[in-house]
Amino acid sequence: MAAPTNNRPATTTDSGAPVESDEHSLTVGAGGPILLQDAYLIEQMAQFNRERIPERQPHAKGSGAFGRFEVTNDVSQYTKAAVFQPGAKTEMMARFSTVAGERGSPDTWRDPRGFALKFYTSQGNYDMVGNNTPVFFVKDPMKFQHFIRSQKRRADNNLRDHDMQWDFWTLSPESAHQVTWLMGDRGIPRTWRHMNGYTSHTYMWINDKGQEFWVKYHFKTDQGIECFTQHEADQMAAADTDYHTRDLFEHIAAGDYPSWTLYVQIMPYEDAKTYRFNPFDLTKVWPHGDYPLIEVGRMTLDRNPTDNHAEIEQAAFQPNNLVPGIGPSPDRMLLARLFSYADAHRARIGVNYQQIPVNAPVVPLQSYSKDGTMAYRKVTDPVYAPNSKGGPAADSERNTPPTWHADGEITRAAYVSHAEDDDWSQPGTLVREVMDDAARDRLVDNVVGHLLNGVTEPVLERAFEYWKNIDPTVGKRIEDGVRAKQDEKDPKAEQQANPARSSMQQKA
Ligand code: NDP
Ligand code: HEM
Repeated sequence: MAAPTNNRPATTTDSGAPVESDEHSLTVGAGGPILLQDAYLIEQMAQFNRERIPERQPHAKGSGAFGRFEVTNDVSQYTKAAVFQPGAKTEMMARFSTVAGERGSPDTWRDPRGFALKFYTSQGNYDMVGNNTPVFFVKDPMKFQHFIRSQKRRADNNLRDHDMQWDFWTLSPESAHQVTWLMGDRGIPRTWRHMNGYTSHTYMWINDKGQEFWVKYHFKTDQGIECFTQHEADQMAAADTDYHTRDLFEHIAAGDYPSWTLYVQIMPYEDAKTYRFNPFDLTKVWPHGDYPLIEVGRMTLDRNPTDNHAEIEQAAFQPNNLVPGIGPSPDRMLLARLFSYADAHRARIGVNYQQIPVNAPVVPLQSYSKDGTMAYRKVTDPVYAPNSKGGPAADSERNTPPTWHADGEITRAAYVSHAEDDDWSQPGTLVREVMDDAARDRLVDNVVGHLLNGVTEPVLERAFEYWKNIDPTVGKRIEDGVRAKQDEKDPKAEQQANPARSSMQQKA
C-alpha cells in the first residue's frame, strides 16, 4: 500500500486499491498517448459522467438537516402513534425547498416552500410532506400536473411566464386562497428558520381504543415569523442565490439550532359530515376559533448533512409512509399523493431507494420485497407468503386499516357540497381580517408588479375580476394600479416593472 503523504490517508480506487497518482495519467512516454489500461483515470471520468441524478420534478431546489422531535404534551387520547406518545423522542430529518425553480434557482423567489419531514419511528418511517402554507392551489389531483407546468417554463422560449401562471389561476377559482397567501407577506420567508410548516391536508388520528379523529398539523417557528419584501428578495436573489441554504447550514454549524413547536387541530370524526364547509378541501383552513391549536411537541434541527447528495438529494419523502395511529383522509389530493411520490422515487433514484441510509428505517425490516437494481439488503428464505417455513406473517388483529364510510355511483365530479364551500370567503377573511393596512398595501403592490410583468388580455381582465371576488376594494386598487402604470407609457415605468425584459428590449 502506498505510504500516506504528510500523514494524510492514501488515495484509493473505488475498489480500495492504492492509486499511483492523483495528477498524471498513464502515457507512453511523457509526450505520448494515454493508455486504456489507466483504470483509475477511466473510473474518475466514468463516475463523473454519472454524478447527476434527475432533479425532483417540483421542489428541485432545497436543502435540509437532521434533528429530533420531542413530545411535550399528552395527546394519546387522540393517537396511538409511538412518535406522539408522552415522553417520546424521535430522530428525524427535514428538507425545505421552493416548488417551481430548478436545482440552481434562487432561494428567495416568491413561491410556497416545501416543509418535508421524515421521522425514524419505532413503528417504521413516518413522513409528513407539507408546505409553509396551510392551503393549496387546487383541490383535485387531476389539475396538479397542469398547475405545476403553468408555473414552470414555456415550451417555446423556455422562460417562466406570468401570463401562463395567471391564465391557470384565473381559470381555477379554487386557487384564490393560496394565491392571496402567496402574494402577501408570507409569500417570501426571510429564511427557512423563520417560517411555519403545515400538513395542509387533513389526516386521520386513531387512538388505542380505535376511536378516529380528523387532524391538521401546524409547526410554528420558535424563531418567529420573518419575511422579505419583494424588493429585499430581488436584491438577495442577485446577491446570494443560495441564501436560505446557507443560512440554515451556518446557523446549525454555529450551534444556533432552529426549532418548531407542533400544534394540532382536532376535529371529532362525526363533525366532518355536518361542518359548514368540506373539512377535506385542501383550499380551506379550519378557523382556529372552531378548532383551537393543541400543543404536541418540539422539533429541533441540530445536525448538518456531511454529504448533501447522499443525505438530501437522495432523501425520498412519501406521504404514504404512515404508521399505526395515523391514516389518510378522504382529501383526494392526499389520496393521489399516496401513489405519486414512491413512483417518482423509483424513477428518480431507483427501485431500491428505501435501502439508501437516509431513507432506511431504524426498525428491522421483515418485508418480502427482494432483488432489483442495486439491491443491498440481503433477503432470506422463505421468499413468499403464506408459508409454513417461519417467514414473517402480518398481524392483522393489531394492525387494522384506518377506515371511513364511502358509498355512491362511480363518477367524475366536484366534492359533495357543504353550506360554505365557496372559493372566495377565506381569502377575503385573510385580506380583511388578518392583514393590516400596511400588509394590504404590500399585497396590492406585489400583485400589480406581478401582473405588469407580461400578463396580457384577456387574462389581465380576468385577474381583476378574480381579485374583486376576493375583496372588491383590493380588486379595484389592483385594477387601478395596473391601468395607471399602463397609461403612463413611460419607459422608466416599464424598466421598474420588468428590468430584465426592458433591458432585453433596449438591446434588441
Ligand atoms: P385566526 O386569527 O385564528 O388565525 C389567523 C392566522 O393567520 C394566524 O395563524 C397567523 O399565523 C396567520 N397569518 C397572519 N398573517 C398572515 C399572512 N400575511 N398570511 C398568511 N397567514 C397569516 O383566524 P382564522 O383561523 O379564522 O383564519 C383566518 C385566516 O387566516 C384564514 O382564512 C387563513 O387565510 C389565515 N390562516 C389561518 C390558519 C388556520 O389554520 N386557521 C393558518 C394560517 C393562516 P401566526 O399566528 O403564526 O402569526
Ligand atoms: C415533491 C407530486 C401536492 C409538498 C413532489 C414530487 C412529486 C410531487 C412527484 C417530487 C418527489 C421527488 O422526486 O422526490 C405531487 C402531487 C400532488 C402534490 C401529485 C397533488 C396531487 C403537494 C402538496 C404539498 C406537497 C399539497 C404540500 C402540502 C411537496 C414537497 C415536496 C414535493 C414538500 C418536496 C419533498 C422533498 O423535499 O423531497 N410532489 N405533489 N405536494 N411535494 Fe408534492
